Amino acid sequence: MNIGQLFKTKSVDDLIRDSEHGENRLKRVLGSFDVTMVGIGAIIGAGIFAMVGEAAVGVASGHPAGPALILSFVLTAIACGFAALCYAEFAAMVPISGSAYSYAYATLGELVAWIIGWDLIIEYAIGNVAVAISWAGYFKELVKNLTGFDIPLWLCTDYRTFMQKGFDLSSVPEIAGISIIFNLPAVAIVLAITGILVIGIKESARFNSVMVCFKLAILAIFVGIGIYYFNIDNWTPFAPGGWRGVQSGAAVVFFAYIGFDAVSTVSEETKNPKRDMPIGIIGSLIICTIVYIVVTVALTGMIPFMELKEKIAQPLVAGLEYNKVNSAVIALIAFGSVIANTAVLLVFQLGQPRIFFAMSRDGLLPKFFSKVHPRFRTPHVTTIWTGVAVAALSAFCNIDEMANLCNIGTLFAFVLVCAGIMVLRYKDPKRERPFKVPGGVVLPILGIAFCLFLMAGLDKLTWLRFFGWLAIGLIIYFLYGMKNSVLMKRQ
Ligand code: ALA
Repeated sequence: MNIGQLFKTKSVDDLIRDSEHGENRLKRVLGSFDVTMVGIGAIIGAGIFAMVGEAAVGVASGHPAGPALILSFVLTAIACGFAALCYAEFAAMVPISGSAYSYAYATLGELVAWIIGWDLIIEYAIGNVAVAISWAGYFKELVKNLTGFDIPLWLCTDYRTFMQKGFDLSSVPEIAGISIIFNLPAVAIVLAITGILVIGIKESARFNSVMVCFKLAILAIFVGIGIYYFNIDNWTPFAPGGWRGVQSGAAVVFFAYIGFDAVSTVSEETKNPKRDMPIGIIGSLIICTIVYIVVTVALTGMIPFMELKEKIAQPLVAGLEYNKVNSAVIALIAFGSVIANTAVLLVFQLGQPRIFFAMSRDGLLPKFFSKVHPRFRTPHVTTIWTGVAVAALSAFCNIDEMANLCNIGTLFAFVLVCAGIMVLRYKDPKRERPFKVPGGVVLPILGIAFCLFLMAGLDKLTWLRFFGWLAIGLIIYFLYGMKNSVLMKRQ
């Protein structure tokens, strides 16, 4: 084994040249507005529409954040802000589609690049499994509210969740003695989105922008209603779980912020990435932070937080029902959530294939992964593979486990991106940096510290799954990637 290869870096110039030449080129069509919309599309989803309930009440952690959930959102925004600045510096400097994978290749070497590419599958694909499951939950509610038809539970959940909720297996159909329980709506939405993504990035971006406007409008309506019913007594006690509650809440709502980094996966399809990438990454994070804080103020002011327990997975609906708001408005908010989750699915489903695409172009994955569709100019092979895998997993997996795995994988990616910024400042100080994180290495160091702190808060099983996944990745690298690396063949 050639140990040197493991730490061999690909020069930034090579990375950029490979993306600009050859037939494996993507189309540069997106502007700063589009990429900011991509960010908001990826960020606002299951986190604010579903997970704030658990964060406020703290059923699993035993530490409720209560109305102080507002502070949890501020805390997590600061942590994400450090990482966002580092992503912005990289994305403007190395505007290619592989995101953190490509940045690691330029700074920390091939092995770390592989590890991070493999790890990003957890963020994008596994994160999408969680969002697809949440989508299915809201879709069931929406259909019930609109038509009165209640989709049977065996057709929109996984086996373990079905059993955990204590439902009776006797109503479930069987084939050859096996109970048929799977999440059909989750599978259907993932496959539909895959189809749209194969057709084109511009079409996908347009579709995304429409959904983003809609979800922001729905949240604005919610905030208006919340302010109307605001009762200051609901803010006493403000922080029922003290500092621990705020901290646990921050770990849960981290999921709500994931997505600003997905902007960097479309940098190769952006017209002027040097300017548009920092705007898209930092802009979308700032907009979403404001939206989250305002929504949380409205929610915690309109309902005593413990009442959220009744409908913990649909906290916004709980707030409206508590104030006896018209059921048509409630259906509208449920619809908004379905749309919001659809936008998250779209952007994540768009990001994952572009990372596979970059890894394949470097020879670490088989060549057919970097095929570009002759007419649509999209990485259709990886898009379809990702779609099928995510659809299959969302049919049978449990949402909380998937969300935790997504959190740990994403935090790990953030740590390496912050570290990469410091390494490149040292190795290549003269390179043009259209955007530079201010204050030297202080903010990247703070970014690493915050992310490790949040990772430490995750449970043991999540850590075990995470290490198991990385171990599988290493085996594949040593059996395939190492031998086929384009960088090595160039030597
Ligand atoms: N931030 C995304 C969401 O909340 C993953 O759905």
